[in-house]
Amino acid sequence: DPEYVLYDHPVCPRHVPFVLIVLSGWGEGREDEYNAINKSNCLAIKTLRNIYPYRWRTLKAHGEWVGLPKNTDTGNGEAGNNAMGCGKIIIQRATLVDNAIADGSIYKSEGWLHAKEGWVYGGTLHFLGLLSDGGVHSRYDQLQHIFKTAVDQQCKKIRFHILLDGRDVHEGTSLQFVEQLEKDLEELRKWGCDARIASGGGRMFVTMDHYNADWRIVRRGWYAHVLGDAPHKFESAAEAITALKKADPHCNDQYLPPFVVIQKKNGQPWGPILQEDVVINFNFRADRMIQISQAFVDEKFDKFERIRWPNVRYVALMQYDLATKLPLRYLVEPPRFEKIAGKYLSENGVRTFAITETQKMGHITFNWNGNKSGKTHEINDTYQEVQSENIRFELEPEMRAATIANIAHDALLSGLYDFVRVMFANGDMVGHTRDFEATKRACLAVDEGIKLLVSGVELCGGMYMIVGDHGNCDDMVQRDAEGNPQLDACGKPLPKTCHSLDEVPCGIGGPGLHRNVRFRDNIRDAGLANVTATYMNLLGFEAPAYYEPSLLTFDYNPWAFTGV
Ligand code: 3PG
Ligand code: CO
Repeated sequence: DPEYVLYDHPVCPRHVPFVLIVLSGWGEGREDEYNAINKSNCLAIKTLRNIYPYRWRTLKAHGEWVGLPKNTDTGNGEAGNNAMGCGKIIIQRATLVDNAIADGSIYKSEGWLHAKEGWVYGGTLHFLGLLSDGGVHSRYDQLQHIFKTAVDQQCKKIRFHILLDGRDVHEGTSLQFVEQLEKDLEELRKWGCDARIASGGGRMFVTMDHYNADWRIVRRGWYAHVLGDAPHKFESAAEAITALKKADPHCNDQYLPPFVVIQKKNGQPWGPILQEDVVINFNFRADRMIQISQAFVDEKFDKFERIRWPNVRYVALMQYDLATKLPLRYLVEPPRFEKIAGKYLSENGVRTFAITETQKMGHITFNWNGNKSGKTHEINDTYQEVQSENIRFELEPEMRAATIANIAHDALLSGLYDFVRVMFANGDMVGHTRDFEATKRACLAVDEGIKLLVSGVELCGGMYMIVGDHGNCDDMVQRDAEGNPQLDACGKPLPKTCHSLDEVPCGIGGPGLHRNVRFRDNIRDAGLANVTATYMNLLGFEAPAYYEPSLLTFDYNPWAFTGV
């Protein structure tokens, strides 16, 4: 394809085995007692950094550097991996929704008109999504603007199906978001709209599965939201949260069981989803809403028995999968990614092997490929998924790191691939549990994986690049505006479940690395989008001019310290 021509790099040769190791949720934080990497003494990565300090630097992975609205927005898996796969800072979903609300285009969209027709004809409007202001999958202020506008535009009946967060925001805050919503609904009822919370559950246990890891999660959601059926029934969402947590001390916001809100007068659920109703899914992020969207729209859906499949107008805040156009109806145009690196590389004969475990599979493929499912090339792309265990991650923080490392190591030495791309999920998945001891074990498992892969690189005369996609396990405490740890009533530090704002480490090395290769020192403010041109160089190509600049310089400077 002439559109995807790449030119040979003048210094870096092609066909040197290369492994890119992405450490999910692994930032470069303060070296204090809340940094699980620091506390777990990860010798492999520490040693690499001590021997080759000039081959390491940090990169920005949050805010404007990955296309997010504000620099107080932590990085996340979608934005970070989009950036590394696509070589550009692309305006991300949260910002695009903000813009569409600000200029009113969201309410002129086809999706909106389609939805509106539904409630004007008498259908109930259902909102489904993650209830928080985390800004990773959704944001409350956006939801609020949308439901207020619906009421302004003649909507008379609304039901909410809420997934509780405690993962992109602090644990325990779900109650506050429910209280805020209840206050807003009271207001709506004064305006003549019958508005109620109908069902809910914790996001990690109900509805928001991803990458087909565990369809039971989606089924629980279908039963609660659509069928109005759950083992737990309460007269309010706040009561549900309080009672369910009291009944099980291990239960937190993320893992709250599914519940249905019932009417006091007759015990009937307030809002099952019925024929001719309208469903607006208010999450903008894709991964965790693809499966429930399939359950709503796929005629041939067979992942579980739906019992009842109401014919509804299903509209998402944004389209989730650009390849399958799922769902067809949406309110805001999603980001579009042109000239992604995977396409360039496969068109130029680079054989890629991408591997991680289920929980991150789409991060290293779907997000890398600009939120399109599938491969960039039938022959040159090989994707291997290691099945994640469906248990709580703090119980087995090593996850599948050892298996992933072993398979990737063999792939590197097989001679069958030019580019081995590996992601370790542990720093992020266990970091989100706020269990510090488990997260230390998670870090050590990743460090073991790095050790094995770097030894493979030594064996085959190859190269490695190590990079984080955003912070998480590097900072496990809630902090005040000055950065001081926040304490609970007993003076104990409050653990943090969400991502951090820290920069991420980035290192290169291996015997195959050309001795003239160094990090440039005049690109201090670089971020994850600069990673793309960098690995393209290491794979033996000049990067397209369209990309953010490479982090590397190739000038031989005889006065510079070049190590051994
Ligand atoms: C999740 O979906 O698990 C979190 O909200 C975000 O995590 P990720 O951006 O690291 O995937
Ligand atoms: Co995360």
